[in-house]
Amino acid sequence: MEVEALLDAMASAAQACADCAALHLVGGAVRDQQRGRPLEELRDLDFVVEGSAVTLGELLVSRHGGELSSHERFGTATWQGPLWASPIDLVSARRERYPEPGQLPVVEKGSLEDDLFRRDFTINSIASRITPGARGQLCDPSGGIDDLRNGVLRIHHPGAFHDDATRVLRLARFAVRFDLDLDEATAVALAEALSGGSLDRVSGDRLWAEWLLLCAEPSPAQVLLWMAEHGITDALAPGMATGSLVALKRGLAASSEVQPWGPLQSLALVLDGVDPELAIERFGLQGAQGARLRRFTAVVRELPSSLAGSRADDELEWLLRHSDEQERAVLVAADPAAGDAVRRYEDHILPLEPLLRGEDLLAAGMPEGQALGEALRRVRVGQLRGDLSTSEEALSWLGLS
Ligand code: CTP
Repeated sequence: MEVEALLDAMASAAQACADCAALHLVGGAVRDQQRGRPLEELRDLDFVVEGSAVTLGELLVSRHGGELSSHERFGTATWQGPLWASPIDLVSARRERYPEPGQLPVVEKGSLEDDLFRRDFTINSIASRITPGARGQLCDPSGGIDDLRNGVLRIHHPGAFHDDATRVLRLARFAVRFDLDLDEATAVALAEALSGGSLDRVSGDRLWAEWLLLCAEPSPAQVLLWMAEHGITDALAPGMATGSLVALKRGLAASSEVQPWGPLQSLALVLDGVDPELAIERFGLQGAQGARLRRFTAVVRELPSSLAGSRADDELEWLLRHSDEQERAVLVAADPAAGDAVRRYEDHILPLEPLLRGEDLLAAGMPEGQALGEALRRVRVGQLRGDLSTSEEALSWLGLS
């Protein structure tokens, strides 16, 4: 559906809603529009309404259908309806207080300006009016448009990171995505938040959610580099992203348009000396995810030295026999010297059908057991070394024909 039609429907519902006053589009959509991105291209839309977002959401559902999930306590609702492909976030304009750093805020009703000031950065605190008569009128009390124009990333108040330390990771993402410089007060607040242990108070779940967003950026490696240069990775886990900076830079050069690493791969690549168990706990990784991170970390740490030097094909197969494609990708990213070995393994060794399988040996009269496994291995070594080239040859070499 056309974005203008959606905005008309939203405005009409806001007008008909007894508990609602002005409705504004806010956050990333307005920021990106200011940076020249047409509204039609935007997907994630956030609206702020002076009044009740939940009542507005209920009215939208009664008029157009769809599903609403709401949080009365925070005055927020998410509407997934037929008018827009992505879920639409609605918030009641509010003021926030953080009783304890890192905890969820206490929320009370507020004006549009209050709502803009509680947000993370000035560039995300611009509102564009939706209600008819003044469509597109901007409200920018903290100078977000000027900051965008001047390439500046700025928080509203010195406690912004203490209140919500996930903003530290958001900061890195926006600084890199939009090529922005921190203003002085923001740089000072960041340094204070990091030295004060703000990130330690963020739960594993929230940290992992931020990590996923980071990995979905156009250039995650660039964001990680930025984080390392600003002491953020070290604050996440001391020693993280120290030695791997070289690999990150290389990754950047190699993957300008394609990002081949998934979130767990990226994490393994930048853990460096950090104990994976610590990272698993820090990011709240559960069962299979934790196991995967352990495996990626082992691959990154152990295989490069084993693969160093020129290895015969049978040795390569032995070293890589338990690896899967993702593990080999992370290995190459960590150590390009391993790239040749991995390519040889994938292009020449993996596709090579074994000359004999277990059933061939059983059919030739060999009993099941350890000796059978050992015979298969010897045949494979002979095949990879070029000593054996047909099944008949292999059977006769084993004395079975
Ligand atoms: N926001 C905030 N503090 C946070 C998260 C979000 O103040 N910790 C506010 C910002 O105003 C932000 C808006 O909520 O613009 C929407 O958040 P989100 O959808 O996460 O980010 P966007 O700014 O839309 O960025 P993106 O382009 O990455 O989607």
